[in-house]
Amino acid sequence: MKHYDVQPARSVTGTVRVPGDKSISHRTLMLGGIAEGRTEVTGFLASADCLATLEAFRAMGVAVDRHAETSLTVHGRGLHGLSAPGKVLDMGNAGTAIRLSMGLLAGQRFESVLTGDSSLRSRPMERVARPLRMMGADILTTDGKPPVTVRPVASLAGIDYTLPVASAQVKSAILLAGLYAEGITTVTEPAPTRDHTERMLRGFGVQIETDGPRVLLKGRQTLHGSRVDVPGDISSAAFFLVAGSIAGSGEYIIENVGVNPTRTGVIDILKLMGADITVVPRESQGGEPVADLHVRRSGLKGIAVPEALVPLAIDELPVLFIAAAAARGETVFSGAAELRVKESDRLAVMADGLTRLGVPNELAPDGIRIQGGAGATCLTGGEIESHGDHRIAMAFTVASLLATAPIRIRDTENVGTSFPGFVATARACGLQVREE
Ligand code: S3P
Repeated sequence: MKHYDVQPARSVTGTVRVPGDKSISHRTLMLGGIAEGRTEVTGFLASADCLATLEAFRAMGVAVDRHAETSLTVHGRGLHGLSAPGKVLDMGNAGTAIRLSMGLLAGQRFESVLTGDSSLRSRPMERVARPLRMMGADILTTDGKPPVTVRPVASLAGIDYTLPVASAQVKSAILLAGLYAEGITTVTEPAPTRDHTERMLRGFGVQIETDGPRVLLKGRQTLHGSRVDVPGDISSAAFFLVAGSIAGSGEYIIENVGVNPTRTGVIDILKLMGADITVVPRESQGGEPVADLHVRRSGLKGIAVPEALVPLAIDELPVLFIAAAAARGETVFSGAAELRVKESDRLAVMADGLTRLGVPNELAPDGIRIQGGAGATCLTGGEIESHGDHRIAMAFTVASLLATAPIRIRDTENVGTSFPGFVATARACGLQVREE
C-alpha cells in the first residue's frame, strides 16, 4: 500500500497546470460513443477513473484511438450502435462512470452488469435506479449498491422528475436515458449542479432546454461527433488555490482551469474567507469557460459557508476544511450530508484527520465546525488515514503548509483516479511530498 511522507513547507510559488477535467473527460467518451461520426478530444484526463470508462466503451464496440496521453479520437457508433460487452463492466472507483452508464445502458438492447472497487461497491445506486425504473428501465442493484444489472426493455418513456438530492450524476443519468425514451424527459434540481452534460449535448447538436432549475430534452435525437478541448479540472486546481491562499509567495498562477459557474463554489467560498484570487478569462473550450487563476497569500477568516454554495463546491470541501484550519476563528459547513456517500465518508474521515493534527472540530450529521488556528504552524504532524480517497490524501498534503512536523498519509494509490502527476506538480511548487 502506497503512502505519502510530507515534510512541513512554508510557501508555494510558480505557475501550475492541472490535468483535464474528470467530469468532462468521462462525458466525451460516453457522448462520443453514442454519437454519429468521430469525436476529437484534447486535454483528456488519462486517470484511472476515466480509463475505466474508456475500457467499458471499448468493450461495447466503441473504437478509441489514443494519439497521445491526453488526446484521442472516439469513433461513435450512433445511438443504437453499442454492442453487448461480453464481460462485467468494472468502473473501478468512478461514481460518474457507473451512474451515468446506468442511464445510458437503460436504453440498450442488451444486458450489462456494472461493478467497481470496494469503495464504489459501498455507494448508493438506487438514487439512479429508481427514476430510471419510472422510465420503464429494468435495473437490479445489490442491496442498493453495485453490482448493478441493467436488462433490456422494449422501450423507455420520458418522465418529469424532481431530484430529491442535488446530484449531477443522477440528473445526467436520467438525461442520457431520456435520449432513448419516447417523449420528453424533464429533470428539476433542488439546487444548481454541474451542467457539463447539458453543455456537451448541445455541442453534439442535441436540442436541450434549460428553464431555471428544469432541464428538458426530447428523446431519440441524433448526436453528432464533435471536438472537445477539455479544460483543467477546477477540483484539482482547488488544492493549489488553497495552498496559494494560505502560503503563496508572490503571484502564484494556476493556468487553464475550467470555470463553469456550476463548479466555482470553491473560489466563492475562499473569497468569502478573504482569499485574494483573480480570475483571468481565456478563450472558452468545448462550450466551457476557462481562465487562469492568480492567487496571492492572504489572512483567511472563519465564516458560515452559505449552503447554496455547497453543491457548487462539493468535491472541493475536503481541501476547504484545510483552509478553515488555517483561518482566524470558526468556519461552519452545513448542508453537506452528501459528503458522507462520496469515495469515503468525507465528513468523518476529514474530522478524524483534523483531530489527529490537533485541529479542534465538531462533526454534525450534515457538516462540520472547524476552529482555525490562524496560519502557519497551527497543526501538529501525524498519521492520516485517507481510506483510499484521493481528495482526502491531497487535502492533507496541502495541510503540510500549516504543520510543525511531518504528516504521513496512508493509502494514497487512488490519487491517480483524478490527478495523475499530483506529487510532481505539488513538489514543483514547493510542497515537500514523497510517495513511497
Ligand atoms: C459528478 C457529480 C458529483 C461529483 C462527482 C462528479 C459528475 O457527484 O461529486 O465527483 O461528473 O457529474 P454527485 O452527482 O453525486 O453530486
